[in-house]
Amino acid sequence: MNQLVLVMVLICSVYSQLQLPPERLQVVMKYNAECQKESKVPQMMLMNTLRGEFEEDDRLKNHLFCLGKRMNYIDGEGNFNETEIRKDMSTGLSNDRIEVAVKECLVRKATPIQTAFDSIHCISKEYRL
Ligand SMILES: *[C@@H]1O[C@H](CO)[C@@H](O)[C@H](O)[C@H]1NC(C)=O
Repeated sequence: MNQLVLVMVLICSVYSQLQLPPERLQVVMKYNAECQKESKVPQMMLMNTLRGEFEEDDRLKNHLFCLGKRMNYIDGEGNFNETEIRKDMSTGLSNDRIEVAVKECLVRKATPIQTAFDSIHCISKEYRL
């Protein structure tokens, strides 16, 4: 296998952990690539988030904000779209965990970027329980 194929396989296996329906996963992959062009977040830093390591790095924060906006989870002002977030969580989390995640994770912070970063970090923990 050449290196590019290897990287693609790795990325796909990592993203499948998000437990989204296949068609939704494709959308995430597409937006992710678009956001990465803007944010310039290193691939490794991004992969680390799927293992629960969220580095306090502006490239990563901008990336997650970009992704959150494209997915319609959050708007430019930092308002959550709870309906949309709940819908995507419903394929990977039990109803109990969704209620916990919504209550504890959808919290406004000082800036929309920090809001996106902290909420995604927080929600990712619910997936690891
Ligand atoms: C949430 O997102 C959905 C799908 O993009 C959209 O139809 C809906 O209007 C949004 N709701 C709010 C409150 O922004």
